[in-house]
Amino acid sequence: DSLFKRTLKKSKISLSEIDAFAATTGPGLLGALLVGTNYAKSLAITSKKPFFSVNHLQAHVLVSRINNKINFPFLCLLVSGGHCQILLALDYNKFKVVGETLDDAVGEVFDKTARALGYSYPGGPIIENLAKKSKGKHKFKLPKPLLNKNTCDLSFSGLKTSVRRIVEKGISKEQECDLAFSFQNTIAECLLNKVDLAIKNCIHKGFNLQDFVLSGGVASNSFIRHKFKVLCKKKNMIFYVPDKKLCVDNATMIAWAALEMIAKGRSFSKIHLSPNPRWRIDSL
Ligand code: KG4
Ligand code: ZN
Repeated sequence: DSLFKRTLKKSKISLSEIDAFAATTGPGLLGALLVGTNYAKSLAITSKKPFFSVNHLQAHVLVSRINNKINFPFLCLLVSGGHCQILLALDYNKFKVVGETLDDAVGEVFDKTARALGYSYPGGPIIENLAKKSKGKHKFKLPKPLLNKNTCDLSFSGLKTSVRRIVEKGISKEQECDLAFSFQNTIAECLLNKVDLAIKNCIHKGFNLQDFVLSGGVASNSFIRHKFKVLCKKKNMIFYVPDKKLCVDNATMIAWAALEMIAKGRSFSKIHLSPNPRWRIDSL
């Protein structure tokens, strides 16, 4: 059976019980966007129900509100395989990019590091598990570009290259775990440093920030979740992070984003709308 049929069966609902259809129309790879969008649109047309076009990044941010009353404005660090952005969420459809990576996305750096070590995609969970086994015997000093500079932007390409050079020289299993730990810790430090600065900047500009949200595939990392929980406590902010399975790409977050639109009275999307692989969250 198709994934769609299996999903209906598992959730014990029939096609006619579905009130609306939603799909992400960007950002992302055009091929994947076309397949998903056209599938959802055809279901909407054949069952005479509305179709909602959802921004993938907006869905990553908003899904944090599924089980919590998080009020706007809030600050969000979105870290996935394609993106790394510090966002000021002003409303369900209004976001400001406070800082973003100038090169690689965080998940991408995890994936490339894992690949350099000979592991397959996705690299994030693999690195996390290796790091857990680290006894901390070997310390690796890795570069932290832009750290303590007066910008909320981030950069990871130097870190990635540095890790690859270490791996190419050949390392033992024990060193591999220690390297994974140093790598993960370095990433966390860079992210914490920039979010700290972003909070200060936003408060300085007069925003009443009480809530902080961590989201995207990398937000399923327990080490990074813990680090941000500690930062929020220090900053007197409330820390929110979706369940792990809602951090990595999932259909629930797309449906939830559509529900937020419906709740705000936003009408459905034009059926002729085509996907936008470069759709920015600050241009909704
Ligand atoms: O949000 P997502 O599922 O897809 C994109 O929109 O990109 O994020 C996928 C990324 C991958 O790069 C994957 O390696 C990373 O999230 N990731 C993790 C962990 N689980 C997934 N990174 C670090 N630690 C994890 N536990
Ligand atoms: Zn994603």
